[in-house]
Amino acid sequence: MTTILITGANRGLGLGMARHAAARGYEVIGTARNPDDANELREVATRIEQLETDSPESIAGLAERLKGHPIDILVNNAGIFPHECDDINDLDLSSLERAIRVNTFGPLLTTRAFIDHLAKSERKLNVSITSNLGSIHDASKGEMGYLGYRVSKAALNMGNSVVAHQLKQKGITSVVIHPGWVQTDMGGSAAPLKPDESTGSIVETIENLSHEDNGRFLDYRGEELRW
Ligand SMILES: NC(=O)c1ccc[n+]([C@@H]2O[C@H](COP(=O)([O-])OP(=O)(O)OC[C@H]3O[C@@H](n4cnc5c(N)ncnc54)[C@H](OP(=O)(O)O)[C@@H]3O)[C@@H](O)[C@H]2O)c1
Repeated sequence: MTTILITGANRGLGLGMARHAAARGYEVIGTARNPDDANELREVATRIEQLETDSPESIAGLAERLKGHPIDILVNNAGIFPHECDDINDLDLSSLERAIRVNTFGPLLTTRAFIDHLAKSERKLNVSITSNLGSIHDASKGEMGYLGYRVSKAALNMGNSVVAHQLKQKGITSVVIHPGWVQTDMGGSAAPLKPDESTGSIVETIENLSHEDNGRFLDYRGEELRW
């Protein structure tokens, strides 16, 4: 059976991916900061684990609790969009640091903690949910802003490129996936995509990944995006 571990799975895109993965018969391990409140996740997850992705101790604790358990697919999904670091003229440094801690260091440290679990599995897929707002190419056109969020996701993209290279000898495939602009607490009600549409496509895209995809920047439909 395919085992998927999804961080931040109690709401939004994480919950949607957990639902689609469960419908495909996967063993779903979902993390939440407050497992007791994760009622919707409980309906689909095989197991719920407590995790704060901005805490190296919490990440290490989860890896230890799951020691020896092969993880076919790790989805680093948990993320934040702090608006207090949107503008260079009005920059809150602690908010910028928090964006980088959660959106960049969190996925990288979680991947590091789960290298053995991934290497032991059949699929060996390491997926991080990024954003097209982390694309430097796209930032050169259209509306600008969201400084901290863009920086944190661009750094995650670079981190994944390096990790993809460093873990390929272990047969691990590492990709970053942009989910589209989606109606979640983060995406807001003006977003064009419903969570079910985005997350169904993401899970299908993940299922179709092979080692040839290592290091790629894809959207939820599996289409290549520009860095
Ligand atoms: N929605 C969009 O349009 C969109 C577009 C591009 C990229 N993304 C990316 O997609 C991912 C999911 O976004 P979403 O729209 O589902 O956001 P969301 O509805 O705000 O959900 C965020 C999830 O991340 C968890 N989380 C936040 N900080 C955490 C921490 N320090 N430790 C552990 N968990 C933490 C939250 O847990 P709590 O419930 O405990 O807060 C929640 O489960 C994020 O990486 C985001 O950047 C979203």
